[in-house]
Amino acid sequence: LLVDKGNYRHFMAKEINEQPEVVSHTLANYLDMAAGRVHFPDLGVDLAQVSRVTISACGTAYYAGLVAKYWIEHYARVPVDIDVASEMRYREPPLSENGLAIFVSQSGETADTLATLRYCKANKQRIASIVNVRTSTIARESHAALPTLAGPEIGVASTKAFTCQLSVLACLAIAIAKARGEITAEQEMALVTALTEVPRHIASILRQDEIYLSVAQDLAKARDVLYLGRGSSFPIALEGALKLKEISYIHAEGYAAGELKHGPIALIDESVPVIVVAPEDDLFEKTVSNLQEVAARGGQIILISDAAPKMVGCNTAAHIQMPKVNSFIAPLLYAVPIQLIAYQTAVQIGTDVDQPRNLAKSVTVE
Ligand code: AGP
Repeated sequence: LLVDKGNYRHFMAKEINEQPEVVSHTLANYLDMAAGRVHFPDLGVDLAQVSRVTISACGTAYYAGLVAKYWIEHYARVPVDIDVASEMRYREPPLSENGLAIFVSQSGETADTLATLRYCKANKQRIASIVNVRTSTIARESHAALPTLAGPEIGVASTKAFTCQLSVLACLAIAIAKARGEITAEQEMALVTALTEVPRHIASILRQDEIYLSVAQDLAKARDVLYLGRGSSFPIALEGALKLKEISYIHAEGYAAGELKHGPIALIDESVPVIVVAPEDDLFEKTVSNLQEVAARGGQIILISDAAPKMVGCNTAAHIQMPKVNSFIAPLLYAVPIQLIAYQTAVQIGTDVDQPRNLAKSVTVE
């Protein structure tokens, strides 16, 4: 298969910019957009009867699963157990009757994810996998394979596969919530409509690229960077830190914002940029108070938010203004600025963006 970079300098840039299109294709596969309804394939199990959802994956795919935990527990009110596959395969957790196990993998060949899938299958779970490569081993060994329509992803740092995984997981969360009677037809329509608007919002985020360049110039000089988020923004903070360390080799950590005072706040001084993923949702006020703690210690705050700058009540080094949207879809949008920040920083530093040192695109050995 021959894929070229087109007019882009790197595959990663091309893949980031493809997101409006591939997210739209992926959503169209799981939604009846005109009717405002989910249109989810039969997983061979009655979703109303599922007692527990188990999710496992590695790296970026794991963070997509972590967002899904927030969505499924919030909207469908089903308990979700999630772990990285390298832990879950040896942890050998007891699994529930009528359990649904979800595996997320771009390549569909990740060794630890496959081993965990086999464990869950042997323990009578219904197996559904979200894969980008339809002919992959993980797809073949699942009871149901749910494709992401991201197209081939060449850059080692996963970008468009992540937002497509989130797209499928968002539709799944609505499908389970609907089957269990946890949302009304009206609520379903509101969630589906919000999802339908994601590609347009991503396209508008991609158009304002100057701000990322200036943020990247500062980040390129940093030794350590912290990413903070709460609720479904917490996995986006983790993904932001992973993306930055993978391609720029700058040390970065993602934290749940409320954990700050339990340790990481000791790191904060003028030399530490703190990237805060903070949509103006029910938890925004809580995150703002963490922000003020950072500001009081001289931390350089880079805020990614739809809130007006005056809502924050402290100085920020940069404010990346996001569109106002239903907080359900926030993770799909906030994923994009953290990709652009990592990409531009790596370009500033001059690393091999598409093939960073020590990393393989797919980890097929343990
Ligand atoms: C993402 O940027 C990474 N390169 C990596 O964490 C990746 O997501 C992980 O190895 C899982 O791969 P998979 O989706 O192909 O299973």
